Amino acid sequence: MQKDNIAEEIKSRCNIVDVVGRVVPLKKTGANHKGICPFHNEKTPSFVVSEDKQIYTCFGCGAAGDVIQFVEQYYSLDFRGAMEKLADEYGIPIRDHFQKDARQEQYLEINREAATFFYKNLWREDNAAYRYMIGRGISPETMKKFGIGYAEPQWDSLLKHFEKLGIEPQLLVDLGLVSQSKGKYFDKYRNRVIFPILNTRGKIIGFGGRAIGEDNPKYLNSSESSVFMKKNNLYGLSLTRSEITKEGSAILVEGYMDVIALYQGGVRNCCASLGTALTENQARLLKRYTNTVYLSYDGDQAGQNAALRGMDILYREGLQVKVLQMEGAKDPDEFIKKRGRDAFLRLMKDALPFMEYKLQVLKSAHDLISTEGRIRFLKEAAVLLRQLSPVEIDAYISKLGEDTGIAPSAIRLEVFQKDESREPARHRASPEEEIESPASRMDMGERCILKLILRNGSFLERIGEEELALMSGETVKLLSRIRESYRGEEVISLEPLRESLEEQDFALIEDILEKTPVTGSDDDFFQDCINSLQQRQWSEMEKDLIDRLSLADEEENYDKIQEITQELMDLQKLKNRDRR
Ligand code: UTP
Ligand code: MN
Repeated sequence: MQKDNIAEEIKSRCNIVDVVGRVVPLKKTGANHKGICPFHNEKTPSFVVSEDKQIYTCFGCGAAGDVIQFVEQYYSLDFRGAMEKLADEYGIPIRDHFQKDARQEQYLEINREAATFFYKNLWREDNAAYRYMIGRGISPETMKKFGIGYAEPQWDSLLKHFEKLGIEPQLLVDLGLVSQSKGKYFDKYRNRVIFPILNTRGKIIGFGGRAIGEDNPKYLNSSESSVFMKKNNLYGLSLTRSEITKEGSAILVEGYMDVIALYQGGVRNCCASLGTALTENQARLLKRYTNTVYLSYDGDQAGQNAALRGMDILYREGLQVKVLQMEGAKDPDEFIKKRGRDAFLRLMKDALPFMEYKLQVLKSAHDLISTEGRIRFLKEAAVLLRQLSPVEIDAYISKLGEDTGIAPSAIRLEVFQKDESREPARHRASPEEEIESPASRMDMGERCILKLILRNGSFLERIGEEELALMSGETVKLLSRIRESYRGEEVISLEPLRESLEEQDFALIEDILEKTPVTGSDDDFFQDCINSLQQRQWSEMEKDLIDRLSLADEEENYDKIQEITQELMDLQKLKNRDRR
């Protein structure tokens, strides 16, 4: 994110005390500088500038921000204008960053040239890559469609090609096309089939190269760089997105060859997650084109585990998720070659909604004949169901009742029993994580709050909706139990709690009482804990926004970039103000 970098650079080089001091007389008071606020009328100074934190705040009118925001506000400039003014005055070569943009263009240009080079190799004369792809049933037309190429076995053919064009080898190293060892450069892709990876703007951002022989690794991918960010892209999407919109669904697969084989087989609404765990940004990207995703990962354990994780991410982004169950083939590539398009379409028709799939996996792991097995199955099923909406949950409860012969009302109780731990689906940890010991994962701030409350019940009054929203489900649950058994005593008695809590929860309380260090004046400390939870939540929101920003940047969606930047600035303003 270029703009961010410029902003960071400016912030690190322009001292806010200096910038503000030119227009507002400031007096040093302790660690801060104080003056008459330029943003509202006042006689006594309430405008504070912190040199440490490089921010300003006015206790009179609430104006606050960093050095760039000050310049924006004081000189009525926009973000960019403010940055240019500061860069100009402080001699920061902002053009560097425009050069950086130009560098980005050059990288993409080099990638295109490399893709053309590999492509021409494939079509020049009979060669190993062409034979390999034909051997895997891929037609010349499909190879052309995907821009498949060939990297020859020599160590320097790409290198020489770019040398002729006058391109510095270091640029090729940056892109992961060339490697360097002991001062010598050599081609990274040798004797491989090349799959160019395009983003949705049609730019070649990287490459995958499959070994033609038995070389390791089987696939060699471009390394992460400013042009290649795996987490923001899906293989094939640039070609298939219109099909995805037309079909109203996307089929998400694991591998390059799966996409290519499906596409050639007439199932064109597909793309692949580039061989890594699915990311939130990839889910958001899909959401631009469709609401329904069919997961079709490999049948092996690794593939199925990746599918299970992927489902939750897709669901949390608001997509409808279904899971394909293949038999007699290890992946979609093999399946469509063996059985053809119609059989694949039937698989799609029979695909299970992701929760049904999860329950089925769970069922097969338990012995439903024994009472004990059924109970354990239901307890774990209840955990899974909690990530759904109440209506969805209800639909599954009746079904579970039929499967196990246990009354739906009892299952419902099991699902909603720990209902205090429900949070909006997006913020929830996946149920798998939730089963882990909560004690070890509980935030120190939350532990301290619980300890303070147990030692002084009156703190309970200071926990309202707003505070609860900052806490984990586990803490919210404990607080609600503590509140139920609280009878106004100063130090909360443990005996009633022992009765009302499950064993492990009570053990957690004991652990907190014993091991959590609580120092300083209780009152201030309590507020500090709440503040730290607030900061934690803001940091999470900030991370999420930065993630979205990088996707918007990838898509060159300027409206979105601006919108998110604004949100980010507002959030940062909040964060900084609260930190004072
Ligand atoms: P697979 O090993 O399932 O590959 O990895 P595949 O698609 O079946 O490959 P073929 O059919 O043998 O050619 C799935 C995906 O994981 C990534 C690639 O994106 C691959 O398509 N992968 C796999 C790597 O990045 N590196 C590897 O070494 C292996
Ligand atoms: Mn395969």
